[in-house]
Amino acid sequence: MIVLGMISGTSVDRIEGALVRFEEEGETLRASILTTDSHPIPDRVRTALLSMLPPKRGSVRAVCEINFAVGEAFAAAAHAIGERAGIRPDLIASHGQTVYHLVEGQRALSTLQVGAPAVIAERTGITTAADFRPRDIAAGGQGAPLVSLLDVLLLAGTDAPCAMLNLGGIGNMTVVVPGMEPFAFDTGPANALIDHAAARLSGGKLRYDVDGTWAARGKVNESVLAELMAHPYFKLAPPKSTGKELFGPGFAEEVLARGLDAADCMATLTAFTAQSIVDAFRDFAPHAREVYASGGGIHNRTLMTMLEQRFKAALPDLALRTTDALGLPPDAKEAIAFALLGYQLVHGRSGTIPTCTGARHASVLGSLTPGSNYREVMRVAAGRAAGEIRQLMIRQL
Ligand SMILES: Nc1ncnc2c1ncn2[C@@H]1O[C@H](COP(=O)(O)OP(=O)(O)O)[C@@H](O)[C@H]1O
Ligand SMILES: [Mg+2]
Repeated sequence: MIVLGMISGTSVDRIEGALVRFEEEGETLRASILTTDSHPIPDRVRTALLSMLPPKRGSVRAVCEINFAVGEAFAAAAHAIGERAGIRPDLIASHGQTVYHLVEGQRALSTLQVGAPAVIAERTGITTAADFRPRDIAAGGQGAPLVSLLDVLLLAGTDAPCAMLNLGGIGNMTVVVPGMEPFAFDTGPANALIDHAAARLSGGKLRYDVDGTWAARGKVNESVLAELMAHPYFKLAPPKSTGKELFGPGFAEEVLARGLDAADCMATLTAFTAQSIVDAFRDFAPHAREVYASGGGIHNRTLMTMLEQRFKAALPDLALRTTDALGLPPDAKEAIAFALLGYQLVHGRSGTIPTCTGARHASVLGSLTPGSNYREVMRVAAGRAAGEIRQLMIRQL
């Protein structure tokens, strides 16, 4: 079965896509990555999204409108990615775009992803899986990080204590230590604050600090950094999740209001991301020996250097790599994770690991919108064994 996984993350930068062929052998799932690709979000859709995301507000009408507009953008992305690869997937698994992730203290109360799957199924004719997060929240979980299933299945074969770290708008990590239940959580900000500050301090010219060059020219303001690190979120034990509602434009504006020199501000926010991640490892995963990073943040050289230096100082036995070392393309990891979740959905298999999201039990995630191939997809899936997958083997074609 070929699945197109798609996501636009909290950075609202591009729609990432991955075409993945899944084949089963007993409890092992083989994922062949046929292509990874991305597609732009039309400027007017991006602007509309950014104008309603916290701390800004949107009307119910605006949410209603953007749901279809993002659906159209995902449908266009699915079409373009399929055309470029010359492949028509059997299933589309769309994360859509988060517009709100509602957390109070350590409890997730609700979450909303837009990008109407009906629009995607209608435009493409392909059965579309979507709405992955709410079920886990309904079962008492965080609804995040949903990449944890991919992470855990992928690391199931390794004997060393490992962690996966995704550097999107928000950072998340999954820890797999032999003999322990796996766990996962959002570390806090990854690129979200850096992006907002880069856009504001450049007068809108930059969307992000390209390669981290701006931060590299600045000096970290240690007293501001210490204050930011005192945020209570970092003390909460996992499982926990967060979003731009907390570490987003509102937070970044408070830091900008301190009037630091622009480069120093960029350096301090970059150090904040790095330090919060290093502290997360020190406090919650000191046993990890290898960490595999992914997401757009790996292209920020200053962030990666700060991470390396701070890991070296706090946890000298921890090696930082990118997920390339596992055969997993770092920019497409989340798209691949949602392809996996879509595959799990049509097979009636769990998309979560309760110790990772904090749910009372594992759940089959998502809902399905039938395309013209619906009965065929159901027939193929029904023909397979009902048991759960224990291991994932990935290869890139
Ligand atoms: N060359 C680069 N230099 C610095 N940062 C980059 C670069 N490329 C991507 N990024 C960062 O990665 C972010 C996008 O990462 P992504 O993994 O797509 O996050 P999300 O899942 O939140 O959309 C951008 O907003 C930017 O902050
Ligand atoms: Mg993105």
